[in-house]
Amino acid sequence: MILSPSLLSADFGNLQRDIEMLNASECDWLHVDVMDGLFVPNISFGQPVIKHIKKHARKPLDVHLMIMDPGRYVGSFKEAGADILTVHYEACTHLDRVLHAIKDAGMKAGVVLNPGSPVSLMEDTVQLCDLVLLMSVNPGFGGQKFIENTYNKVRQLRDLCNRKNPECLIEIDGGVNLQNAHLLVEAGADALVAGNAVFASPDPMATIKAMKQ
Ligand code: DX5
Ligand code: ZN
Repeated sequence: MILSPSLLSADFGNLQRDIEMLNASECDWLHVDVMDGLFVPNISFGQPVIKHIKKHARKPLDVHLMIMDPGRYVGSFKEAGADILTVHYEACTHLDRVLHAIKDAGMKAGVVLNPGSPVSLMEDTVQLCDLVLLMSVNPGFGGQKFIENTYNKVRQLRDLCNRKNPECLIEIDGGVNLQNAHLLVEAGADALVAGNAVFASPDPMATIKAMKQ
């Protein structure tokens, strides 16, 4: 299981300290949430901050774009240091083109589905994906409650991937914690994002270790 702690819940005044903690921990990727205040109600940070994150991070940056028309910025997120770039199905008019652009730029490409978007929307693009991310909360904020229907969607997506792209990873984002992590893996998830569960815990390194087990 791949664990990708979300920096959205880190201390923005002490990002370097929190990144170094993640470097020393058992986590696999660093999840980086970009929000534009339009696709989602919140605004987080963009490429200039990611460049600084990249300077300190010793693990791949898993960049989740919650922005409208993300194809406009594929090149600049590559330049900022993204290793994996995920874009929302709901934010792209020409998803096939955007996925090709991400791969041509040398990054791993992923599509994100909101809780209200069915897995069947991925029938014609899952072949182009290195990963598909299922949102298990409505995106925009950390610390929200996990939506239980996600388990059904993980199983449906696993079937779809088995049929069309067995290499494709399934990632889950939102409300993931020590209680539901193993259930998600059992349902077929390969990668889990965790923000609040890691950073609001008394000992984030120990929580990461516990989640990995
Ligand atoms: C939500 C973001 C998530 C968020 C997860 O819009 O995409 O990555 O940071 O945070 P938790 O784990 O606290 O739900
Ligand atoms: Zn995210």
